[in-house]
Amino acid sequence: MSNRHDFDFLVLGSGIAGLFYALRVAEHGQVGLVTKKRGADSATNWAQGGIAAVVSPDDSFDAHVDDTLNAGAGLCKEEVVRHVVERGPRMIDALLKYGVEFDRERLRGDEDPDSEFSLGREGSHTRRRILHHRDTTGREIERALLSRVARHPRISVFEHHCAVDLLTSHRAGRTEPNRALGAYVLNARSGEVELFHAPITLMATGGAGKVYLYTSNPDIASGDGIAMAYRAGASVANMEFMQFHPTCLFHAQAKSFLITEAVRGEGGVLRTADGRAFMPDHHAMKDLAPRDVVARAIDTELKRSGAESVFLDVTHKDPAFLRERFPNIYERCLDFGIDITRQGIPVVPAAHYCCGGVRTNRSGESDLPNLFVAGEAACTGLHGANRLASNSLLEAVVFADAAANESIARLHDLPEPGALPAWEEGDATESDEAVVITQNWDEIRRLMWNYVGIVRSDRRLARAKRRIDLLREEINEYYWNFKLTPDLVELRNLATVSTLVIRAALFRKESRGLHYTLDYPERDDERYGRDTLLQRGDAPRLEPT
Ligand code: SIN
Repeated sequence: MSNRHDFDFLVLGSGIAGLFYALRVAEHGQVGLVTKKRGADSATNWAQGGIAAVVSPDDSFDAHVDDTLNAGAGLCKEEVVRHVVERGPRMIDALLKYGVEFDRERLRGDEDPDSEFSLGREGSHTRRRILHHRDTTGREIERALLSRVARHPRISVFEHHCAVDLLTSHRAGRTEPNRALGAYVLNARSGEVELFHAPITLMATGGAGKVYLYTSNPDIASGDGIAMAYRAGASVANMEFMQFHPTCLFHAQAKSFLITEAVRGEGGVLRTADGRAFMPDHHAMKDLAPRDVVARAIDTELKRSGAESVFLDVTHKDPAFLRERFPNIYERCLDFGIDITRQGIPVVPAAHYCCGGVRTNRSGESDLPNLFVAGEAACTGLHGANRLASNSLLEAVVFADAAANESIARLHDLPEPGALPAWEEGDATESDEAVVITQNWDEIRRLMWNYVGIVRSDRRLARAKRRIDLLREEINEYYWNFKLTPDLVELRNLATVSTLVIRAALFRKESRGLHYTLDYPERDDERYGRDTLLQRGDAPRLEPT
């Protein structure tokens, strides 16, 4: 098989953004879609809560905009927020046309299948506006989009293909202004690195929750896209704002299992082990306060009491309703011996969503021309310093759509690729010490959890920086000397992304949204009321006004 593939559009990632974009652009050209495990192994597939959009007469664009800005702690770009919110209803229609099914009111007793959507509520939303499919919304979206992609004659899907680095015109040795030309991709089955050329690339590789020891994210979330784009010279923004979801199941055998915020939206109450409802002590919105506030409140309660978890209590709700509305959570908890209709669910915060990412414009394009980025890998300006729950699936689809429009418009004006360099393996040999990978992987995740977590300080961040610098050096040496494996590719990306988070956190000497530091506990709008930008070779800086 040839080691070079040519497409009109290259898509990296198979979550909602990658699949939606692929379906749109495939009407205009050949699409190669690369995904590092199976198609359905994406963060989208794990999304429980749903997708926020204004579809009810009781709601308004202004209210959704205000809720997003309030959660974002002064860093959302208002014009981007409005742009995304106003496209919500259209994007829901597009998903319905692709076959996605959202719950209707019949859940609440009305049997008409065309009845109004059943809308959930989540933290910091002042209205019910979350469209959902029981508590497995992401799985439903992934099912519908993937089945269309699989049947599309102009989309070729490459599973078990792990992107290693972007191919740019500079990397190809050209002196023209830098632009994206595709990617080098490791075929996990053959062990060969293949060249995927396309004049336009959409990166939709998801987030970076695996940077932390405890996360709600699937294993694929190692920040690959953010790291690749940064290495290729694109600007990355706001990496200090890592969102910790307040309620992940705390159980020795439960790996990364989220208890959706929609449970609190339906009346769930957070309690300490002795039964005290503690959120009223922390915020006027109590259990539906912004996510950063709830996660910090739990962290405070755990540190104060020394307990291992707090408890999410829904025992006052009708058991039949709980089983119908949250079937996945009900079953999974039962598997672990927890009957949510009778006892509190033990929960702890865990890394959940990266509000930073590759800086993109209104069309979803990064400052590396012809590299578009959508979904969690992007920083569009929507989330600011703290993402409003369930805004991310909406953002992903709005920017995948915008990127598709711009890609289609641009396709026929792009120059021919000319000769492109194949991947050079050099003298790399098979590793005889794969333990280096597992050891470094564990060290990074633990140091990020302990020193760069929910509550930070200069001293903790400095410790983290010293350690990550050492680890990066070791990982780079290993990377150049040994043959690539998907684990090594991910480890290198994890180290890059951790460094970006630490550098951005050290730079922001204030507390805002998801970045809270003991040394600067107040918000400082005058000095820090702007995004943090990181670009290869430069010190961190604030976005110019
Ligand atoms: C949840 O269901 O609580 C997660 C929703 C989100 O993170 O947007």
